[in-house]
Amino acid sequence: MARCSGRRATSRTRRHAQTLALAVLLLEVSCLLSPAGSEAGGLYTDTDQIILLTPGTVESVLVNSTAATVVEFYASWCGHCIAFSPTYKQLARDIKEWKPAVALAAIDCADETSRKVCTQYSIRSYPTIKFFNAYSNAQSKGQPFASRRDVQGFRQALILRLEKHEEPWPPACPPLEPTSKAEIDSLFETNNVQHLALIFEGSNSFIGREVTLDLLQFENIAVRRVLSTEEALLSQLGVTDFPSCYLYYPGGNFTRLEVKFEARTFYSYALQRLPGVARSGKRTPIESILKTNNTDEPWRLFNASRVYMSDLESALHYSLRVEVSAHPVIKAEALKSLKMYISVLAKYFPGRLVVMNSLKYVDSWLKNQSGSEVSFDSFRSALDNAAQAPDTALPEGVKWVGCQGSKPHFRRYPCGVWTLFHVLTVQAMNSGASDCVEVLTAMRGFVHVFFGCRECAQHFESMAQESMSEVSNSSTAVLWLWSRHNRVNNRLAGALSEDPYFPKIQWPSPELCPLCHAIKVNGEHKWDLEQVLSFLTTYFSSNSILTDYLDDESLILAKQREKQAFEAKKRIEREVKEATTVNPLSLLPTGQEDEEDEEEEEEEEEEEEEEEEEEEEEEEEEEEEEEEEEEEEEEEEGPQNEAVAEDMAGGKNYDTTPWAKPDMGERGQKRAQNRPVIVGMRMKQQPEEIVDLDSFVDQHYRAKALAASSRVKRRTLQRKEEQEPEPVFRLGLGLDSGLGIVGLEPMEPMEPYFEKRKIKRLQKRELSHQLYNAKAEESHRKGWVTMFSIGFSKVDISLCVILYFLSSMCLLAMYLFFKNRLRIRRPKVSLF
Ligand SMILES: Cc1cc2nc3c(=O)[nH]c(=O)nc-3n(C[C@H](O)[C@H](O)[C@H](O)COP(=O)(O)OP(=O)(O)OC[C@H]3O[C@@H](n4cnc5c(N)ncnc54)[C@H](O)[C@@H]3O)c2cc1C
Ligand SMILES: *[C@@H]1O[C@H](CO)[C@@H](O)[C@H](O)[C@H]1NC(C)=O
Ligand SMILES: *[C@@H]1O[C@H](CO)[C@@H](O)[C@H](O)[C@H]1NC(C)=O
Ligand SMILES: *[C@@H]1O[C@H](CO)[C@@H](O)[C@H](O)[C@H]1NC(C)=O
Repeated sequence: MARCSGRRATSRTRRHAQTLALAVLLLEVSCLLSPAGSEAGGLYTDTDQIILLTPGTVESVLVNSTAATVVEFYASWCGHCIAFSPTYKQLARDIKEWKPAVALAAIDCADETSRKVCTQYSIRSYPTIKFFNAYSNAQSKGQPFASRRDVQGFRQALILRLEKHEEPWPPACPPLEPTSKAEIDSLFETNNVQHLALIFEGSNSFIGREVTLDLLQFENIAVRRVLSTEEALLSQLGVTDFPSCYLYYPGGNFTRLEVKFEARTFYSYALQRLPGVARSGKRTPIESILKTNNTDEPWRLFNASRVYMSDLESALHYSLRVEVSAHPVIKAEALKSLKMYISVLAKYFPGRLVVMNSLKYVDSWLKNQSGSEVSFDSFRSALDNAAQAPDTALPEGVKWVGCQGSKPHFRRYPCGVWTLFHVLTVQAMNSGASDCVEVLTAMRGFVHVFFGCRECAQHFESMAQESMSEVSNSSTAVLWLWSRHNRVNNRLAGALSEDPYFPKIQWPSPELCPLCHAIKVNGEHKWDLEQVLSFLTTYFSSNSILTDYLDDESLILAKQREKQAFEAKKRIEREVKEATTVNPLSLLPTGQEDEEDEEEEEEEEEEEEEEEEEEEEEEEEEEEEEEEEEEEEEEEEGPQNEAVAEDMAGGKNYDTTPWAKPDMGERGQKRAQNRPVIVGMRMKQQPEEIVDLDSFVDQHYRAKALAASSRVKRRTLQRKEEQEPEPVFRLGLGLDSGLGIVGLEPMEPMEPYFEKRKIKRLQKRELSHQLYNAKAEESHRKGWVTMFSIGFSKVDISLCVILYFLSSMCLLAMYLFFKNRLRIRRPKVSLF
């Protein structure tokens, strides 16, 4: 384990400068972003599971509430309050499941706007804690409640207070008193519970009541405590251990609940996971539903206790190609964050050769960008390996495996992001990185700038601000991310965004890592951090990552080539279109037109560029369609809970339409007019620039295998994309004429999902093919097309002859023009 102290001074100062700059910016942004809820200077934020009271909300929260409420009146400047706040936060996480029965709230009396409320509740010192019964009236000032510094003591005092709650009892709160045999028998008669858990304990033990409350949001289970004095039941079940937990069924059947430790956390965890038990309002998980067509893709079987490379690559694709695209121009902090993210990936991502080549290429490309901004398009070209570096490709598209959700709007990308960064922190630790917060800083920057779920980003940022500075070496970095992730899990357990098939738990579970769990002397759960670290190190290590469902590297390279060929083909098509729309009349040279021509040319060039951009945009949009579809589906589910609905809105707000076309209308019209492109008139430019028509003619020769002509040789020295038009061209036509891409596709049977995608892709191509043909007919290009794909009809050949004749005419015209011009100018020259 690399110690942070081992790092070089230079990297330290640089990093400090960076983090400082980032922190300052983040602080500014978060001040702007945070709503009044997380008041400036308040000790709590909306991630703490504590209701943040304001003068406007006090009444609605405290009066007529169905839950009892504990309120802390504090002043943010008071030392005691500051010292107590971690306990209160921890308590809030600890009794999160009790919320429907008893909720925690807080109000900052130091905030001047809140002063009146605090006076109204007769608050004179801080912190003051008050207990409000359910259904309190507006006159109620609450009952004093002694503050406790230890979470366990506080929680137990709360139970005692709840037990004394007078009528009306909070409806969500289950009975807390001990039960008897007679009651149990009648319970089965009147109730339809699937499981009854009996916790046998001494009268001073709180475990039974705690577990009862822990399960109050779960259906198909009831929990009751049985005192060690309840002889009838003790002898019937043969109970000798206290505490112990038994599952009791109608007819007197029973089994003992097996847990690692006879303690609250282990009972609660085990009971929440019994078959048939589910959170109220969430469907009961049924394994078989997953394996049918519940999602838009077939379900991929996976081992839930493993990490899959496919998820990591999908997260790479989505984060770099989709999330970053929300910034058409990447600059300032965004650029810095992106550079950091890519640099960390290039260093620590445990990927395959082609992926690593790609990340390293993009990393050095980005580092070479000295300007203050980078356009997404150029970044994307680097990602797509437009420079055609060998064995370099970042697979396109997502294929979730371990991050599959039971519905399209569950899990997937955010799950991939977590997994990716856990892997990176572990890789950084294993490689003895000198800078121990490098990965966390990169994650913080990336999440802050690019993570489409803005609320997630905000929450993560507040966690980072709170405690990331405590990270002192690369193993605490691993543990920090793990524990923050568990905080998020705690907060989101039961939220609308939780996939019922993958409930949010404190991870790893006792089954996954028995050694990670331990208990303190007072019976409270504790993590054995050394064991957790060693578990994480193995779990996320590069050699335990599974490579199932990954496409072959050669296939990825082939796909990339196919895509590049497709683009090259489009480019050629465009050139052909320009060439064939030449108006023969405009070829006639008339000396005075020179200036006008110049202007026109410039105009045309601009237009061409615009066109090119637009077409690229269109293509990319097609690619992102699938992802957008996913998100559309997500929106269909109506949010039922406001707080969670907000989460959802935040989570789904990935902006995938960064290619908005502001003045498409105007431009589109311009294009539709299809003005003739007067390529042949570019006489003022150097001869090399007169390529468009000639390259078109060249294509003819090539296709007819007449490549030996000297002109062709000369042309091959032109731009890079035009150097290898032959294979490119053939490939393009192969695709276009629907003859299949057999040679490019894997020979082994493919996943149905990919079959589907392929068909989809082909359909798109067919569509564009039809469009192409329609246009070709208009401009008499059809014959030309068929000549290549099917054969040479007489019409084809005659068309070809005509075109060739036209091009010769053009060359002749040019020749005459230049000759004329030279003759005019020569005498002038001789005068001097
Ligand atoms: C930085 C960040 C902040 C987020 N903030 C919010 C938010 O504020 N609100 C919101 O609604 N959603 C938020 N999300 C999304 C949310 O955390 C989940 O990612 C999402 O709901 C999908 O959940 P999941 O079931 O796939 O499990 P995830 O929480 O995504 O976990 C993925 C996998 O990681 C493993 N894992 C689980 N816990 C841990 C752990 N503690 N340490 C290591 N590995 C673990 C498990 O195998 C799990 O299946 C955030 C995501 C990220 C990346
Ligand atoms: C609380 O409930 C009572 C009785 O149902 C009702 O009369 C009163 O107006 C309610 N008060 C508020 C503030 O909602
Ligand atoms: C699942 O989808 C496939 C193709 O999309 C279809 O052939 C099959 O019948 C579907 N199965 C079920 C159980 O709906
Ligand atoms: C899943 O992976 C774990 C850990 O490697 C292994 O012990 C277990 O047998 C695997 N389960 C299945 C079903 O393959």
